[in-house]
Amino acid sequence: MSIDIVREFADTTWTADGPTHAVEALVEDGMVLAFPRLPFVLDESERRFLDPRWADGKAKNISVRWPGGELRGTAATGADREALRALIVRYAEQAEALALRLFPHYAGHLRRGNSSFRPSQVQTRQSSWRQDDTRLHIDAFPSNPMQGTRLLRVFSNINPAGEPRQWRVGESFEEHARRYLPRIRRPLPASAWLMHATGITKRRRTEYDHVMLHLHDSAKADLDFQRDGPQARVDFAPGTTWVVYSDQVLHAAMGGQHMMEQTFYLDVEHLQRPATSPLHTLERLLRRPLR
Ligand SMILES: [Fe+2]
Repeated sequence: MSIDIVREFADTTWTADGPTHAVEALVEDGMVLAFPRLPFVLDESERRFLDPRWADGKAKNISVRWPGGELRGTAATGADREALRALIVRYAEQAEALALRLFPHYAGHLRRGNSSFRPSQVQTRQSSWRQDDTRLHIDAFPSNPMQGTRLLRVFSNINPAGEPRQWRVGESFEEHARRYLPRIRRPLPASAWLMHATGITKRRRTEYDHVMLHLHDSAKADLDFQRDGPQARVDFAPGTTWVVYSDQVLHAAMGGQHMMEQTFYLDVEHLQRPATSPLHTLERLLRRPLR
């Protein structure tokens, strides 16, 4: 089976007057929308930030959190700190303008999540298999239950030395769910309440979150699937921007350095076709609500 989920567009502008509009159906179908001629441009004085030394050594990313706009994860101070923050905020604004042009159906409903700059090389060796993003996975986070809310991400490769961002992508969400669902047990009664009450999770972990975490872990723990499962290699050259529902598209980051990323949240009912969502796909396969 060949995996062919990347769709390329010739856009050269982030703003509302670019050529590509209303492609909700493609992204909701689990396609990767790639814009090889849509660079995020750093000016001369900003190029100094293309260096991992600006990271604080603890966080993987330097990020701006919304709605407050605080900068996190950097050792920079003073004017450097302000310039670095301005760079990331500019990325957030351009990514948002692009998303609202590509997906006008989401206007008024798309919520801005973290904006991040990742100046470090993709980590190819992790202490834990669960955190190893060089293994194919869908995004699901133990401490941050999504309760069905979608995770839309805009990425840009800003590598100055010609190095591509290397990904693998895999089978469709439904095929992936069918592969592991039979082995996933229901959560223990009261476990979701307990995790929320003790602060392990930011909000209640629904059965949707339970299943998504198990899909994430099942794929990463399955070395046969990682090696032999349906997959394709995708290289995103510098100057490329790409847009993807990372809770739906099976992906792995294999290499690259210097990337921007903007996360957006969208509640399922605001999709153009909610039936394509992981929530509704899982509910259909399991024949019960996962709330
Ligand atoms: Fe991921």
